[in-house]
Amino acid sequence: MNKLVAPSVLAADKTRLVEEILDVENLGAEYLHFDVMDGIFVPNTSYTLEDLKSICDKHHMVNDVHIMICNPLELAKEFAKAGADIVTFHYEACKDNEEVFATIKSIKDQGKKVGLSIKPNTPVEVYDPFLKDIDLALVMSVEPGFGGQKFIPNALDKIKYLRNKIDKEHLDVLIEVDGGINAETGKLSREAGADILVAGTYIFNASDRKERIDSLR
Ligand code: DX5
Ligand code: ZN
Repeated sequence: MNKLVAPSVLAADKTRLVEEILDVENLGAEYLHFDVMDGIFVPNTSYTLEDLKSICDKHHMVNDVHIMICNPLELAKEFAKAGADIVTFHYEACKDNEEVFATIKSIKDQGKKVGLSIKPNTPVEVYDPFLKDIDLALVMSVEPGFGGQKFIPNALDKIKYLRNKIDKEHLDVLIEVDGGINAETGKLSREAGADILVAGTYIFNASDRKERIDSLR
């Protein structure tokens, strides 16, 4: 198990985004969590493909791109081409398992890593057919769309299920948790087996960001 931290720039000051990114890089974050929303799959919009292009080579963290959009089969590869290191799309945005497999392939064909995400009401077992083919499983611990929400504890059992299966089957898949992460929910998520903790408001809204990042190890 790893102990990686992924600040979510959804909560960063967008008027000085590069500075904000370099700040969390200097404080030791390994992943940069970059949220893309289309206003349809989720009732909000955030960063775009053009935004990704403008920041992805300005730092050395892993560009961890979470696309909360419809039609990932068409669009995920564009984020891979634009500079994402990992493109994570939503299971719920695909019409069937075949489309999930095709989307995984479309990202891998660009030489990039693939993540698959599930929303709080989606059962964790939907991962079963895909675990051999993905690099990252992103368990949402809030309804996707907005930062600053409260952690939904059913994520913990999902993380435990995945940890157990990944270890038992010697799979090479990182478990990431996203939404409502702070020192307390972060600790519970680590105990359940999460490798990567995503945190937006907890890190970016703090006066001591280093203390916050360190508290998530
Ligand atoms: C929500 C996003 C999250 C968000 C988390 O849909 O996927 O990455 O930035 O924000 P916090 O950490 O504030 O819950
Ligand atoms: Zn996210």
